[in-house]
Amino acid sequence: MEKPKVYLKTFGCQMNEHDSERIMGILSKLGYRNTERPEEADLTLLNTCSIRENADQKAYSDLGRIEKIKKDKPSLIVGVAGCMAKQEGNRIFQRSPSVDLIFNSKNIWRLPLLLESARKGIKRISALEDTPYSQPYDARRLGRVKAWVSIMEGCDKSCTYCVVPYTRGREISRPLQEVVDEVNRLSEDGFKEITLLGQNVNSYGKSGGEGYDFADLLTQLNDVGGIERIRFITSHPWDLSGKLIDAMASLDKVCEHLHLPLQSGSDQVLDQMGRDYTFAEYEEKIDLLRKKIPNLSLTTDIIVGFPGEEEVDFHKTITALKKIQFDGVFGFKYSHRPNTPALRMPDQIPEVMKKQRLQEVLSIQKEITQTVNQGYLNRVQEVLVEGPSRLNAERLCGRTRTNKVINFKGDLNLVGTLSDILITQVKSYSFEGEPVVQI
Ligand code: 5AD
Ligand code: SF4
Repeated sequence: MEKPKVYLKTFGCQMNEHDSERIMGILSKLGYRNTERPEEADLTLLNTCSIRENADQKAYSDLGRIEKIKKDKPSLIVGVAGCMAKQEGNRIFQRSPSVDLIFNSKNIWRLPLLLESARKGIKRISALEDTPYSQPYDARRLGRVKAWVSIMEGCDKSCTYCVVPYTRGREISRPLQEVVDEVNRLSEDGFKEITLLGQNVNSYGKSGGEGYDFADLLTQLNDVGGIERIRFITSHPWDLSGKLIDAMASLDKVCEHLHLPLQSGSDQVLDQMGRDYTFAEYEEKIDLLRKKIPNLSLTTDIIVGFPGEEEVDFHKTITALKKIQFDGVFGFKYSHRPNTPALRMPDQIPEVMKKQRLQEVLSIQKEITQTVNQGYLNRVQEVLVEGPSRLNAERLCGRTRTNKVINFKGDLNLVGTLSDILITQVKSYSFEGEPVVQI
């Protein structure tokens, strides 16, 4: 019998990308094969995001198209996974009658049971409650060089704009040994780089009370042979301890890159956002990081147009960007989210103003990024070769330890190795380089 086919589309962050790898791990055990064509699928899954308003609109418009396909193929099972499933809940069944099942990230491991129920003809299956975590992780990873490793689920912070504590639930850390075992298996499979994933990796271990923290985890993973590089995302400034900074500075495999969301340069706005730090405290941590890790690359997230953000607050954000000189910024217009305290805050900012402010952030940052990146010109960097270049298959693509993308000419058998590359050109989003030839 021909194997059933699944069309799986992923929206949102790395956490979601990795959840999709876990979903594929389960589905391939059940005999499913991937398809890129929704028309030929027996199972269609949308792994959705709801961090900002337009994220769930995209998923709903896809569901409209899927509904048409299901009319011609009633046996098609349609599922909505992820954050929007949790947030919208039963509304999805009302708006999109073709949907058979909805589940959130904490229920991925229950997929075999959910599918069995759907195949029996049960309609409107919902699995959105928090369930015990720590299920074995058998992700089917897309790449062969870099792998994501989830170290925790959920978030216990209460940023007033954010749906994540609601969509992904309470913070639960995976047991340290379980993570170490997974990384050992990845090393045996030939992976060279791991990125540890969590909403707030800095608070790893806090929920379990097992007596270890994120720095301890990094220390243990640094000893896994075969793994060359360790990255992690995302960090919260409040939980970034001196112990962690010291671990980052001393562990040779931990890369010199940190994504540390600032959100705003105004203390007034940070307070309203419930971020638990002032700009001065954030800056203090950056100073310490830069002192201990001199070539650290720093990226951040900025939200503009948060309720009550006055012109003076916005200018404090611009001043902060100029002062800190981030390598890169992900800028967002504040977006109303259901179930969040910010939704009911007075002084909501008009859309046009949010747009203007975002453009200003992005254009100022573009110049800063250019200046920071120019500093790489004519320097030799250690690059982990990831594969053929996206735009030119004749060239290879890799990243520096500081997470900069480099394209250069080289043989495909270099994929998965560390190569020294001289940076010869700095472009907007990547570098061009030439290898140093080892004889
Ligand atoms: N509106 C705009 N941006 C948001 N983010 C999270 N919630 C919202 C929201 N309601 C941004 C934050 C976070 C990043 C992942 O998304 O900057 O760090
Ligand atoms: Fe990721 Fe947040 Fe979007 Fe969920 S809502 S997919 S956690 S970015």
